[in-house]
Amino acid sequence: MAIPRNLIDEINEKTDIVALVSPYVNLVKKGKNFMGQCPFHDDKSPSFSVSPEKHLAKCMACGEGGTPIVFYQKIKNVSFEQAALALAEPLGIKLNVVKKGEQDQVEHAIMKEANIFYEFYLHNSESGKIAIEYLTKRGLSIDEIKHFQIGLAPKEKDALFNILKNKSFNPDQMESAGLVKRREDGTYYDLMSYRITFPVHDPLGRVVGFSGRTLDNDQVKYLNTPETVIFHKGETLYHLSSVLREIRMSKKVILHEGFFDVIASYRAGIPYGVATMGTALTKKQAELIKQHTNHVIVAYDGDSAGQNATMKAIPLLQEAGLRVDILRLRDGLDPDDFVKKNGKEAYQALISESIDPVQFGYDYYKNGLDLTNANDINAFKKNVISLLRGKDNSIREIYLKKLSNDLGVSYDAVRPKPEIERIPRNDSKPQQAKRELPLKYFHAEKQLVIAMMKDPSASTRIDQALGTQLVADMDLFRLRTTLMHGYYKSYSTFDLETFKTMLDEDQITVLNDKVTSQIEWGGQFIFDEDAITRLLDVMSTITDTKAYKALLVEIKQEKEAYTQTTMVEKQKALKNKISKRQVNT
Ligand code: CTP
Ligand code: MN
Repeated sequence: MAIPRNLIDEINEKTDIVALVSPYVNLVKKGKNFMGQCPFHDDKSPSFSVSPEKHLAKCMACGEGGTPIVFYQKIKNVSFEQAALALAEPLGIKLNVVKKGEQDQVEHAIMKEANIFYEFYLHNSESGKIAIEYLTKRGLSIDEIKHFQIGLAPKEKDALFNILKNKSFNPDQMESAGLVKRREDGTYYDLMSYRITFPVHDPLGRVVGFSGRTLDNDQVKYLNTPETVIFHKGETLYHLSSVLREIRMSKKVILHEGFFDVIASYRAGIPYGVATMGTALTKKQAELIKQHTNHVIVAYDGDSAGQNATMKAIPLLQEAGLRVDILRLRDGLDPDDFVKKNGKEAYQALISESIDPVQFGYDYYKNGLDLTNANDINAFKKNVISLLRGKDNSIREIYLKKLSNDLGVSYDAVRPKPEIERIPRNDSKPQQAKRELPLKYFHAEKQLVIAMMKDPSASTRIDQALGTQLVADMDLFRLRTTLMHGYYKSYSTFDLETFKTMLDEDQITVLNDKVTSQIEWGGQFIFDEDAITRLLDVMSTITDTKAYKALLVEIKQEKEAYTQTTMVEKQKALKNKISKRQVNT
């Protein structure tokens, strides 16, 4: 069942949280909040905090609780939807409960009808002629238009609405499929009008969403149907389901950024292209590729956004177990531009000349630097050394030689000193535990650390909730400790470069590998209160896992040693740095 987000918010906001919690906790007013003994763990001090302002009821010690619905769910031990239903009733909020299966079927049926209609309209209308002319100008043949099931949404704002109504779908269903929207006055209109439509299919070949490209340059270029019960952009790859056979045969996939790039590849005789549709690649998408092949060629745009996205995609793809190569596009071209400009033979040659991630990374870091400038030299060296970390010795040697060449210095001058190499850890037991602990804890902890950096105002809440107990990864724990007890002691906003000055080489590697290379780090990824609550909820169950219990003692010892000695040194070092800066200015 899917309860619409706005109703969940409404229930959480309208529920009297103090009245809800009071039967279970003896609450005492403390400022704006109420405190009491936590009903979820054996609480000696009152750790359970209720904030009517934030609509949160949560234990600061064990982390249990959350929004009113989550509190009710946990205290009554019922499902989230049962809790939502129970709290909605006294508020007079009606939840139209539709079972997930039914909802799925209706949405699939609506998408199928919409696709048939858009395609038909493209090939059988006056505006369709203009759209086909546009597509032809962009190099598409009628066969290609048909292969990709490209269509056209009419200019009339209720064309699809009326078609679907005649097929006896009701407006609610069309709205939850994401294809129509409701006006204030209760009438409906189509999401897309006068747009070229690209259907997006799920792995079973069913249409689950659409993207519409405008024909009129004043409008937003692409408009996508929203996330629905059946459409999850981050779990879908455009064109994948149509080319499973080609992928199997060629034993690879080309990963693009956009529809027209997939189409251009196809036209150039490379049919095994798929696309992420403009958003950052997700782990799920990487895993989806891995289900079908072991080899991916990343063919993102040649502009800086595309190159940055490539750097982010590489580790995700590699973590999924894929061999990764990169298409080297220059001059900011995308594959579509390239094919148009240079033709299909040149494109095929380019694909066969794809480069490996080390080669790509080396050029990426070198690009735009002035190698006579000391800052640039330092940054370049650092990046190359971190790029080579853990790589095979021959590869390291080749690239260090290249580096010495590019800098015009001796090989010795660029070879990393043993002390700045990653020192193999002797804490082999925690490493092993890492493997046994469910992955979700590492993800949650990582996201929380990212949230602390992106939103300093959330950092105290997160740090307090995690404390020294809820730890999955010692590296992340060390970062968090330095962040809270070192960095945020001196600064109120987060600046990555300043933070790095407080870290040693090992920690910088951790930061690069586990924080700044993550999709959550880039773009507009937002951790709101609810997201943080959910992540903390995940972390709060870590203490129940076997792997954690077995390790508790060792983790504790290491943590104590780390917090006591290192933080003192870090703060000393920081003080020195700050006073040096003050002297300098
Ligand atoms: N995209 C999107 N919403 C936008 C812009 C882009 O969803 N407002 C997605 C589309 O899937 C698009 C992809 O991001 O195909 C790449 O965007 P971009 O490079 O801007 O477009 P192109 O694919 O180059 O499209 P065109 O050639 O038509 O300009
Ligand atoms: Mn393009």
